[in-house]
Amino acid sequence: VVLASATTAALAQTHDLLPVPREASWGAGSLVLGESDGRGPARFALEGRCDLRVERALDRASARLVRRGAPRPIRVARGKAAAMLVVACAHPGRPVQAVDEDESYSLTVDSRGAKIEAPNSLGALRGLETFLQLARREGTRWVVPAVTIRDAPRFPWRGLLVDPCRHWIPVDVVKRTLDGMAAVKMNVLHWHLTEDQGFRIESRRFPRLHEQGSDGLYYTQEQVREVIAYARDLGIRVVPEFDMPGHTTSWLVGHPELAAGPGPFAIVRTWGIFDAVFDPTREEVYAFLDGFLGEMAALFPDAYLHIGGDEVTGKPWNEDPRILDFIYQRGMRDKHDLQVYFNTRVNEILTRHGKRMMGWDEILQPGLPKTVVVQSWRGAQALADGARQGYDVILSQGYYLDHMLSAATHYAADPIPADSPLTEAERRHVLGGEACMWAEFVSPETVDSRVWPRTAAIAERLWSRADLRDADDLYRRLEVQGARLEELGLTHRSAGLAILRRLAGSHPVEPLKVLADVVEPLKHYQRGQTRRYTSETPLDRLVDAAAPESDVARRFGREVERFLATPAASRDDRGLRELLGLWRDNHRALDAVAAAVPALAEVRTLSRDLSSVGELGLAALDRLRSAATTAEWQAQARLLLDQAKVSRAAVTLAILPSVARLVDAAAAPGR
Ligand code: ACM
Repeated sequence: VVLASATTAALAQTHDLLPVPREASWGAGSLVLGESDGRGPARFALEGRCDLRVERALDRASARLVRRGAPRPIRVARGKAAAMLVVACAHPGRPVQAVDEDESYSLTVDSRGAKIEAPNSLGALRGLETFLQLARREGTRWVVPAVTIRDAPRFPWRGLLVDPCRHWIPVDVVKRTLDGMAAVKMNVLHWHLTEDQGFRIESRRFPRLHEQGSDGLYYTQEQVREVIAYARDLGIRVVPEFDMPGHTTSWLVGHPELAAGPGPFAIVRTWGIFDAVFDPTREEVYAFLDGFLGEMAALFPDAYLHIGGDEVTGKPWNEDPRILDFIYQRGMRDKHDLQVYFNTRVNEILTRHGKRMMGWDEILQPGLPKTVVVQSWRGAQALADGARQGYDVILSQGYYLDHMLSAATHYAADPIPADSPLTEAERRHVLGGEACMWAEFVSPETVDSRVWPRTAAIAERLWSRADLRDADDLYRRLEVQGARLEELGLTHRSAGLAILRRLAGSHPVEPLKVLADVVEPLKHYQRGQTRRYTSETPLDRLVDAAAPESDVARRFGREVERFLATPAASRDDRGLRELLGLWRDNHRALDAVAAAVPALAEVRTLSRDLSSVGELGLAALDRLRSAATTAEWQAQARLLLDQAKVSRAAVTLAILPSVARLVDAAAAPGR
């Protein structure tokens, strides 16, 4: 079957693949996986030494194709020539997935069949995801285009941090997050299990930790094993983090004897940096940590264990004469030296339990053992410094999903940027990166929309070639594969609408949707400054329904640029006018709803601003068509834009910069 040429032309060289494979050579024709009416279902077979992970992945692949509407594929016995897709592994893979385990694979597709070949089961899993991304409906058929792909990741460490401490993330949400990660070839779940706000894992040795530190919201060890097994099936390692010596309030509720400074301690229910900290001078603390970390080292099979180490204020240390004396007696200078001492002791414990220690970049201090992995979050400088000093390093700076930045922003952050001063040898210490989903403003309902699809952009940055940098093409593919993620049960597209429906109650939801589509949550840490939040504050407002990045605003912005780049005589402003008119007129309908619903009182001014901005955009288009602007009009326009810039309801109007572009263009001489 030869693809219709129109279809071929419409596909960019990257097709819809996300992440883009290292090498792809596109052929003519395609493999038919079956008819939409159910005839001619695909036949799948395994070859070689694939392990059970690949067996199960084939079954999941079949189920996903069925969910898309393809006929249910049939599994046939090994070596059957009739198989349409053969998956072959040279080796099963290691019993515990390792950071340096080969994830490469090749995928060849022609009109007679498809074959995935991999050195081990891990590569086969990655190849199957690529195969699934390629399978699509074409007319009445399900097809996979002819291609030869040779693929392997740029970085071996491609992670996502999940924080179930600030807000609880139940096991089913963790699992669907893992499904999404596997779909974009991520391979590390960094599970941030303890915090000031919660101790989220069962300890059988020290049950007061989870009993008194969690409000009953913790993972049992059985659930932890279940998640680890689930992740392994998907080719994902699970690295737990037990943040210490700071960020430890929840430990101290049941074990105040670990603390520097007097208790009692209570679970923290607000956000920020807190002083609670272990006492690194006492041997009992290390005996306790030996017991606890030993228990956790046995529970988590991965070779790495993260000890946090971030944001230690050191205040209780500086206030305790005994601790100050310890610092003095040992010839240390300050709290940094004391934390190095603590880290060194903890590293000895972990080494004894067979683990490699990781920590945030604060732990990068003189004397840190070279086996420790440093995760950079405060600046990319720590990454370069660490690599230069011979530490393995991981980048998270630039990948903070809670900052509510655009996919393009995250996409631009590179663990080894083009201008990196690192030598080849130093670059080998850069293991990769991790997206971080800190959960101050995340609930089980909203977490998917805060993770997806932006995390897919980071996944591509960590998997694909460094010179792949086209944000427009990224967004095109995020649209396709972002939607595909829903077949895994992720709710990143649907959850926002559910929140809006709840807000609207018996009133029509559409006007609220028009508003939600053009706003974005406040960036960085600004939301927390708009009012007092606690872990009890519901996350059920417009800001929670809004996507971190407004697709409507992005598309509008591109349309504005295209419009302005067109010679005045051949401009067509109808599309822009339609949107601006929609925004101008939305307020009447929305205000009627907002007037009746107390929870929507906060959006009334915002909605009125949107209306004014829509009207202003239309006026700018009028002036671009004909009339010259006056200084007075320009001044008024600027004033209005400035007023609309004020954040309300913890969001901003994301279309504002593009409307400002129209106003500026209208005001420019010789427009
Ligand atoms: C961090 O964001 N404190 C690692």
